[in-house]
Amino acid sequence: MSTIENNAEHSPHILVLGMGGTIAGVAGRPAENPMQYEAGQIEIASLLAHIQAAVPGDIKLVSQQVANINSRNLTEPLLSLLGETVRVALDNSMVKGIVITHGTDTIEETGVFLQLTCGKFAQNLGKRVILTGAMLPANAPKADGPSNLLDAIRWASTPIDNCPGGIYAVMHGRGCLAMDLAKRHGTALNAPIQASPSSSVGLINPSWLSGVKAVQALWNEDLPIPKGNEWPWVEILTSHAGARSETITHWLSSKVKGLVLAGTGMGGFHDAWRESLVAAVKHGIALVRTSRTGAGETAQDLPEADIVGCLASGSLSAPRARIALQLALNAEKQAQSAGKSLTWQDFFARIAVLPVIR
Ligand code: SIN
Repeated sequence: MSTIENNAEHSPHILVLGMGGTIAGVAGRPAENPMQYEAGQIEIASLLAHIQAAVPGDIKLVSQQVANINSRNLTEPLLSLLGETVRVALDNSMVKGIVITHGTDTIEETGVFLQLTCGKFAQNLGKRVILTGAMLPANAPKADGPSNLLDAIRWASTPIDNCPGGIYAVMHGRGCLAMDLAKRHGTALNAPIQASPSSSVGLINPSWLSGVKAVQALWNEDLPIPKGNEWPWVEILTSHAGARSETITHWLSSKVKGLVLAGTGMGGFHDAWRESLVAAVKHGIALVRTSRTGAGETAQDLPEADIVGCLASGSLSAPRARIALQLALNAEKQAQSAGKSLTWQDFFARIAVLPVIR
């Protein structure tokens, strides 16, 4: 469903896509308990109407409701729909930039998905796609959604010195690459951005910007968006004290195509898993290794030689590595049906080497 303000779609405009989340959430008793609320209740057109007076007069906005969900319920078909919507919008010469309002719980997955499927396209066209959200529902006394949305609209529409087209996120007065955004605190207002290398939205930090350009220089081709019902099944398994081999063998009789192992420390996993993981690879299951620590990098053959075929995830967290592996498996399938002998490892390795912005 699409809502058009004043026929703005026929003139240059910013497209604002609504996905739901706390930014569109409503609390039953906002003054007493703003954290008891339902996400994804208010339409994007109403959120825009609420901030309209603060939007600079020369910026025209068009809104489109893609979904209105609590992002913990995000699905793969919905990611496909969002990716296709972004691609079509980027291709539209009237769309000068795109803002996406999204729940912060899984904004990490959507950020990496859009970077890997639309990042090069946005960069080549010189258009910015900006994800944003909120930690407090729209009717909370100190709701953070309106200022985040305004910042995102300005970031998407304003020429910013030297800041290229690409997929970004804005929260709590700071901007970062969307693939760097991760919620690492349950409630803090800056939770989604506090662990992400970022810049003030008012004054771009030059060293952050050179990091963005280094990532973009290495990302030279977007991956295909899987069709809604064709996403390969990939699970995340966490290694922990008392891990059992059954956690792995359980999947051998399933249709799972890949496993992301959230290991301890540098990404090592319990010895109880080793034999069954070797069996999983023989079975054709793709393996990626990452760390459950939430920070740092996972390097190939560290802390010990990897099982043949298993790839380390670089700086990708487990949720990001899962999306990356799904896209890599889908890209392998498409390449092979076009007669090219590329494997998921070829695609995943391009993602895992993307530099970390500090
Ligand atoms: C959600 O992710 O939809 C709820 C939580 C949030 O947006 O902060």
